[in-house]
Amino acid sequence: MAISYDPIAVLMEEHQGFLRRLEEVRTDLQRLSGEGRGARAVAASMSTFADFLAKDVDGFHGRKEEEGLFPILVRHIGSEGGPVGVMLEEHGLLRRHQKTIARNVPKLETDLEAVEAWTAVSVATDAVDRLLADHIEKEDRVLFPMARAVLTPAEMSEVAEICEAIEVQLGASFGVRRPAYGDLRGR
Ligand SMILES: [Fe+2]
Ligand SMILES: [Fe+2]
Repeated sequence: MAISYDPIAVLMEEHQGFLRRLEEVRTDLQRLSGEGRGARAVAASMSTFADFLAKDVDGFHGRKEEEGLFPILVRHIGSEGGPVGVMLEEHGLLRRHQKTIARNVPKLETDLEAVEAWTAVSVATDAVDRLLADHIEKEDRVLFPMARAVLTPAEMSEVAEICEAIEVQLGASFGVRRPAYGDLRGR
């Protein structure tokens, strides 16, 4: 069965986009506090960040991993206690932090002095910053190479099909170039 595009290469490109976004958030927060633009601008930036985590990281990319790649990879390496289990736990943790940010941002919008809400948002944002970068590194360096090594071409096509169906359904909301499988063979 021919592979029309390489789902792992696409996931890795999305990771690079996420790392750039994390960098932007860090810069944004430093700039906003440096300029003394105040709490309202920071709260708006956090609200956008929560949306990005929910839609792009979890709802789009995470769904392709959890519905496409992971279930097929566990046929070879199992789930419990293995690297896929760890990745799923981390997805859950990222989701929890996203919920904390999303729940507390409206409190900031009504009361910019809400100390508890600020603390919760900044602790969760720092945690996401560290966790997401580390999670991406593990997938790029360990899990994805493992998938390339153990998945048969037919299984890789299965992953591609599921991922493409999700992209079609969600309208490829995270705009990355989708490399053709043929582009990647020379790498
Ligand atoms: Fe992941
Ligand atoms: Fe990922």
